Amino acid sequence: MIRRHHSMLLAALWLSAFSLSSMAAGNADAGAEKAVTCQACHGVAGAKSVTPDIPLLAGQHEDYLSHALKAYRSGARQQAVMATFAQQLSDQDIADLSAYFSAQDSALRTAKSGD
Ligand code: HEC
Repeated sequence: MIRRHHSMLLAALWLSAFSLSSMAAGNADAGAEKAVTCQACHGVAGAKSVTPDIPLLAGQHEDYLSHALKAYRSGARQQAVMATFAQQLSDQDIADLSAYFSAQDSALRTAKSGD
């Protein structure tokens, strides 16, 4: 009986972990709408920054972008401008923005797995 409850609990945990991770999957179309404010500095589609000190986002790895945005949000990576923007983003916003920018063409060359 105890064993049975245990496996049901594990199944419930597994299911909730699964739905959380599917929620966090980025949607590039949703990201395109959320990216409007970012383009003031990072350029249209993140492909042409307005000044050389602003990094290109287009074509960057999706997980790199997510990691960077979470680090600005938490303060692990400190930069006042990006902290302000990142603190307004939910996990879903970050996933969507990262999916969007990573799918854009640019001069930035990052090998995709399988290339
Ligand atoms: C006011 C100008 C400005 C705006 C608007 C802006 N950024 Fe940035 N962004 C910067 C600057 C400057 C940096 C470099 C900061 C540093 O040195 O860490 C940066 C860095 C980044 C990085 C790190 C890139 C890397 O190569 O490490 C990401 C990701 C990023 N921005 C995403 C965004 C997103 C997404 C938005 C919109 C929600 C946005 N930015 C809006 C100025 C801006």
